[in-house]
Amino acid sequence: MTDITGDADGERSPRVLLLYYSYTGQSQKVLEAAGDVFQQRGYEVHHAQIEFTDQRYAERFSRFPMRRVWPDMLSVLPAQKRGETGQICTPDTVRDNDYDLICIGSPTWWETVSLPMRSFLKSDEAAKLLRDRHFAVFVVCRQYWQENLMAVRELAEQQGGRYVDEIHFTYPGDSVRSLLSLTSYLGSGEYREKYLGVRIPSTNVQREHLGETRKFAGALADRLFGK
Ligand SMILES: Cc1cc2nc3c(=O)[nH]c(=O)nc-3n(C[C@H](O)[C@H](O)[C@H](O)COP(=O)(O)O)c2cc1C
Repeated sequence: MTDITGDADGERSPRVLLLYYSYTGQSQKVLEAAGDVFQQRGYEVHHAQIEFTDQRYAERFSRFPMRRVWPDMLSVLPAQKRGETGQICTPDTVRDNDYDLICIGSPTWWETVSLPMRSFLKSDEAAKLLRDRHFAVFVVCRQYWQENLMAVRELAEQQGGRYVDEIHFTYPGDSVRSLLSLTSYLGSGEYREKYLGVRIPSTNVQREHLGETRKFAGALADRLFGK
């Protein structure tokens, strides 16, 4: 945990931005659960979904389920491994306000922060948004949360952001089964009991994750802005 001293200016309610990239909606669900808590406290809550518009990948990631799950997933692997950035589009909420807290929702792609989120965090827009602002990181993934969290934290701090806390969620099952379950879902859009003849665990964010997120958001709000 990080010590927090600043808060909103006292003249108005705290203003929070929910900033995320979310291909299947898992990070979005988690951030919205946190957003509900902030809203119930009377805070101003804004949403900013990053759109992945890069011509090299946009088509594959604009449809769900994936048309060809392995080629589609693998299409971003080289760029992920090189830490590349690409073209994205952000809504006006990113530019229109000063925020007291920025909640960053970051799914893992190939063990680290996704290309769209990395692209945002390296942008001039991110520097303007994050400078001297508190941010918290929400990682959602099948298994590999740590490298993603570290990368988001480092990139946001390089832009002048002040890290306050994190929460992460992973999906059940061993490596092979959780991967089969995820790819089954990404390729079909359905929750199935078996894939390639193997019984598979559940995938994606579960109800208990949302409960944990609400508790986390409440505690974060207490620390930052008082009860
Ligand atoms: C291209 C791609 C690569 C992924 N790579 C990983 C990975 O290396 N490790 C992991 O734990 N999850 C990985 N995942 C799973 C995502 O982190 C998981 O599906 C997450 O819930 C997506 O959240 P979203 O719906 O908000 O985009 C990958 C998903 C995609 C689409």
